[in-house]
Amino acid sequence: MSAALRARVAQGISRVVSQGKSLTEVLPDYDHLEPRDRALARELTFGTLRQYLQLMALTKQLLQKPLKKKDNDVLCLILVGLYQLFHTRIPDHAVLSETVQATLKIKKKWAKNLVNALLRKALRESEQLHTFANQSQESALNMPGWIIKQLKQDWPEDYVNICINSRLRAALTLRVNSRQTSRDEYLHQLEQAGIAASTHVFADHALVLEKSCDVTSLPGYLKGDFSVQDAAAQLAAQLLDVKPGQRILDACAAPGGKTAHILELTDNKSDVLALDNSARRLIRLDENLKRLNLKAKSLVADASDPDIWFEGDKFDRILCDAPCSALGIIRRHPDIAILRRPTDIVQLTQIQEQLLDALWAVVKSGGVLLYSTCSILKAENTQQIAKFLHRHSDAKLKKEWQILPGDEQMDGFYYAKLQKR
Ligand SMILES: C[S@@+](CC[C@H](N)C(=O)[O-])C[C@H]1O[C@@H](n2cnc3c(N)ncnc32)[C@H](O)[C@@H]1O
Repeated sequence: MSAALRARVAQGISRVVSQGKSLTEVLPDYDHLEPRDRALARELTFGTLRQYLQLMALTKQLLQKPLKKKDNDVLCLILVGLYQLFHTRIPDHAVLSETVQATLKIKKKWAKNLVNALLRKALRESEQLHTFANQSQESALNMPGWIIKQLKQDWPEDYVNICINSRLRAALTLRVNSRQTSRDEYLHQLEQAGIAASTHVFADHALVLEKSCDVTSLPGYLKGDFSVQDAAAQLAAQLLDVKPGQRILDACAAPGGKTAHILELTDNKSDVLALDNSARRLIRLDENLKRLNLKAKSLVADASDPDIWFEGDKFDRILCDAPCSALGIIRRHPDIAILRRPTDIVQLTQIQEQLLDALWAVVKSGGVLLYSTCSILKAENTQQIAKFLHRHSDAKLKKEWQILPGDEQMDGFYYAKLQKR
């Protein structure tokens, strides 16, 4: 639990909040750390970002004048210090000494006294500072104002709970590989290894672990007995109702979590084309399928332009797991709430509309297109599909399902199952 670790975490957080990097880009910075330090660095990073707006509101009260932009790493170090004081069991004296020493590691010796004085003041005046900070809904709910406003409009009864649930840690959920073992058999193996887990009410192959752990230490990791996947995401392949021998398109497939599930459910005997317009992400899809010993044809392509990739044989099943605001998965990716902008929503709904229209043209008559997002905004979900149904009289809505974050321990997700007449 060293000062160097705090310094690294502050720099990681600074890359997110001031350089707009995603956590997926930042977390590999911790890869070379010892497993225990890596776990702590991740916990401090996720935790600080989950509480970011409230910690910022506390810091603003504590600082006499704002820090310069070039000292964002010092600001982030203060946030990490406050997070440890108010949200972890690390003793106060350890937080103070390691965080203050971390100013030297980031080569900001001048900030040593400032950080020390500020963290001590935070401890002394914790109650007043929190009371004042929580007068703002942004700080109390740890959610940017524009997201609160949008959620309030879409979910007037639920928006506060949505914000609260988005700040809780999500359970570690596994998808048992039905080609290798059954869910109940694997649950038994976990029990024998002393790991508590339970089945899921909706997702047939899901096991929800009581406590998070290093998944590489779980039984059958190397054999590919399971993948890590939220239960809501596991519903995609299930709802698509896939069968061996079908021709299936996974249109926005990378990194391949749902492609792999489709192949597992069809015993690797379906003809799956996996498209994604990101070559980098598609490499991860290929690696994931290889680990699980599954086969699909993968192609870097814009799914909304079938002229480039469609070879004339229409599909029985299409999954359109569309790019979206991802506001349903903030509990797993707290950086989303910081990085997302209101203008993104307009652009995303246009892309979703183009994808839906283009893909509908290549569904067989009687075939199914499943549209999914990990969003909870109506513009991307129910309203998007209502407009689609208005444009396509040959489409029948067979099922629509909006899952809110925390429902049955799931991420926020939306599904619309559309059948072509
Ligand atoms: C929600 S993610 C897909 C997650 C994936 N289905 C899984 O379960 O692992 C959306 C994906 O759509 C891809 N994408 C965005 N626009 C696209 C387009 N026009 N054509 C194909 N893929 C696209 C992104 O690169 C991203 O990988």
